[in-house]
Amino acid sequence: MDKLLIRGGSVLKGEVAMSGAKNAALPILCASLLSADPLELGNVPQLNDISTMLRLLGDMGIGVRHEGDDGLTLDGSGLNNPVASYEMVKTMRASILVLGPLVARCGEARVSLPGGCAIGARPVDQHIKGLQAMGAEVTVEQGYVHARASRLKGARICTDMVTVTGTENLMMAACLADGETIIENAAREPEVVDLANCLVAMGARISGAGTDIIRIQGVEKLHGARHSIMPDRIETGTYLCAAAVTGGDIRLTRTSAAYLDSVVDKLMDAGCEIVVERDAIRLTAPAKLKSVSLRTAPYPAFPTDMQAQFMAMNCVADGVATIRETIFENRFMHVSELMRLGANIQIEGNNAIVRGVDRLEGATVMATDLRASASLIIAGLVASGETLIDRIYHLDRGYERIEQKLAALGASVERVR
Ligand code: EPZ
Repeated sequence: MDKLLIRGGSVLKGEVAMSGAKNAALPILCASLLSADPLELGNVPQLNDISTMLRLLGDMGIGVRHEGDDGLTLDGSGLNNPVASYEMVKTMRASILVLGPLVARCGEARVSLPGGCAIGARPVDQHIKGLQAMGAEVTVEQGYVHARASRLKGARICTDMVTVTGTENLMMAACLADGETIIENAAREPEVVDLANCLVAMGARISGAGTDIIRIQGVEKLHGARHSIMPDRIETGTYLCAAAVTGGDIRLTRTSAAYLDSVVDKLMDAGCEIVVERDAIRLTAPAKLKSVSLRTAPYPAFPTDMQAQFMAMNCVADGVATIRETIFENRFMHVSELMRLGANIQIEGNNAIVRGVDRLEGATVMATDLRASASLIIAGLVASGETLIDRIYHLDRGYERIEQKLAALGASVERVR
């Protein structure tokens, strides 16, 4: 199994381009299920999760054509098998995003329940509750969600908590429902807005995306469209943290600070200088970072997907930081691995208290999930000697060509067996 070998001590410098957003691309690929016409997509990231989703859609009868490095045409005219098998879903929870579009377009769907993952139980009860409110008959049998509806009906849905893929699933389902659907307590993440923009380009009638109340007026059918996937704000934030921790000076292109306010604020609190351009961000790090405390919460607050990366930064900053994780009940798996590198972290419930140390020392560590693996890379870049990260398949799910991009910024990173 591949591992990543990092020789610490390089100061990151230079320029690198960011990729399209994984968490926007995944639901947007599923939007192809809603129409018999072709959906042409640009800026699609090359990631394992994207390949998995394309295989899943292909199994359902969706035609997939690659166009150049980051283009795709998806053809929904051959959709004939509204089933997402356990084999596919167990590798990627986001497969649940086919449920809403399939019920809306085909009148039925059979989708394996995702089950839990390293960071939490992650149930999908709100996805099911919303579809039932739209009149779908939903049963769970032998680990599969089975949903049927001759035609979904508009409904008022208030989710018990803010759920990103829950909002996306229900928004897609409501596009072809009879009447108006109102989603209250909706997720406001930029990826939800990017999906809504794509759906509107396909002829959907959606207002309020980006706020906590989304209104969808159902239509008979959707047509083809062209859409370019938004930049990946989490990939962008990850590289900014990598530069900050090494005392570097980098410029990230094909991205935007528009979706990163809370992250940029914290980086500036840590002492970084940030210059924002229309589609680029430059970060210049101080000689020594200051510790920054944070609390994760739904957008526009601080993203849980950046929590681990900031924990790695705080490991070598000046002072003590408290990190509170409020979204997932088990998202501190990286703590024990960071401590193997010499970090000083104490966990108290959903708080982690990080006391900055003068230096970290390279060691062999294990990635447990996607963002935890990013935090180990950041720590490895500043640790003395070599850090060997095991199980980096987690990384390939969400970071495109990471070792090439880091090497372009001067890091010593190598994939080894
Ligand atoms: C999305 O996951 C992202 N994934 C996650 O990114 C991200 O961490 C998360 O949103 C929060 O921002 C994708 O977009 C593909 P939620 P999602 O539903 O939608 C509970 C990454 O690293 N909940 O917003 O699955 C749930 O357990 C990944 O790229 C229910 O209880 O997250 C959690 O505690 C990791 N019942 C909370 O709500 C439900 O039906 C928020 O989860 C749905 C959610």
